[in-house]
Amino acid sequence: MTGRAPSLTPTPAVPLSLPLGFFAAGTAFLLWGLLLLAIHPEALQAVRHPVLLASSHLLFLGFGVGVLVGALHPLVPVVLESPLPRPALGYPTLALWGAGLPLQTLGFLQADPRWVALGGGLVLLGLLLFAGHLALAFRRASRWSPVATALAWVSFYLALTPLLGMLQALTLRYGFYDPERMAWHVLAGLVGVFLLSILGVGHKLVSMFTLSHGTDEGVLGLLLWVLNLGLLGLALGQPMGLGLLALGLVLAFYDTWRILRQRVKRALDVGVRHYLAGLAFLPLSLGALLAGEPLRAGLWFGLGFLGLVVSGMLYKIVPFLVWTQRYAPRVGLEPVPALKDMLPERAADAAGLLLGLGALLTPFWPPALWVCAAGGLLCAYALEEVLRS
Ligand code: HEM
Repeated sequence: MTGRAPSLTPTPAVPLSLPLGFFAAGTAFLLWGLLLLAIHPEALQAVRHPVLLASSHLLFLGFGVGVLVGALHPLVPVVLESPLPRPALGYPTLALWGAGLPLQTLGFLQADPRWVALGGGLVLLGLLLFAGHLALAFRRASRWSPVATALAWVSFYLALTPLLGMLQALTLRYGFYDPERMAWHVLAGLVGVFLLSILGVGHKLVSMFTLSHGTDEGVLGLLLWVLNLGLLGLALGQPMGLGLLALGLVLAFYDTWRILRQRVKRALDVGVRHYLAGLAFLPLSLGALLAGEPLRAGLWFGLGFLGLVVSGMLYKIVPFLVWTQRYAPRVGLEPVPALKDMLPERAADAAGLLLGLGALLTPFWPPALWVCAAGGLLCAYALEEVLRS
């Protein structure tokens, strides 16, 4: 890490409406997915149940990918220390992803691979455009670091995952379908996109939000190797892949512990607390996988890890972006709200509690999905209050 004070200030070229558009649509997809699953808990009884396919894509591809892509627009210039080449390219990505996912979801619900392929095809185009844009940004980077390497891997998996999904959708329709290939698609999405992005971007964000300067990024570099090899091992059916994922988790916890130990800001705020609570779901999820319970592992990963980490980071990023663009220019000229007063912290805390509790219980007691849905609603309320502040 350089000694420079990190900041998430968007370059003037990244308009606020771009990340906020992704965050708003992503939160709407989260609510849609949670409610769908809460209304149809019987979907949890079978992998590939139409409702499970629809809600898992709303959660992962809608909420997870939406917030990730939205956050990367202002974050990539900070990591690479050079502006995005064409920030306006984010709008076609937003439109293609935002229009394609509902079509894909309806395709899953109707068990019609044509709509899955059509909607998924729009999403794929949007994500390929984004990955291409990131590739241009990487070529112009003024500074390279393990966080940048993590982002490069993430952009590769953001393109590969929908390509593998399309392969499944098209082969379902036209033949040569192989159910075994779903594992590649799921691994590329959950490990390649989410684990790598959250641990890579999380390293940067948690360091920034806790004012922890000078943590070396060597452990993160090693972690990327270990997780990629673990993913490859699992895709090739090697049980050693699980061992490498476990080693990756140990490294991730060690890295996070080092960041926290060096922090200047001693009190952990709501966003960082939820991030840490989300990380605690990773060993649970891995344990379930080792015990041969993939559905339970997926639920803890999606609802617990992803739900808590991503909502926690939104509680930090949204007030920061809104304050910087809306109020920073008015400081000294008129009264402006303090950054820390923009988020209704009690609502955000309650949202995290409900999401965490619901996620923990859902594999044993599916009605707990309503608890998750209540957490999702409170999270949406807290973020909406930030926008209204
Ligand atoms: C980052 C993006 C994505 C993630 C994380 C993701 C994740 C998943 C997950 C977890 C499943 C298993 C669901 C279950 O067990 O019920 C799945 C299945 C599937 N996904 Fe995705 N998905 C993504 C993008 C896409 C896209 C863009 C398409 C486009 C067509 C797609 C098509 C499919 C299909 C067809 C299946 C069922 C495969 C089969 O039956 O073998 N996915 N995906």
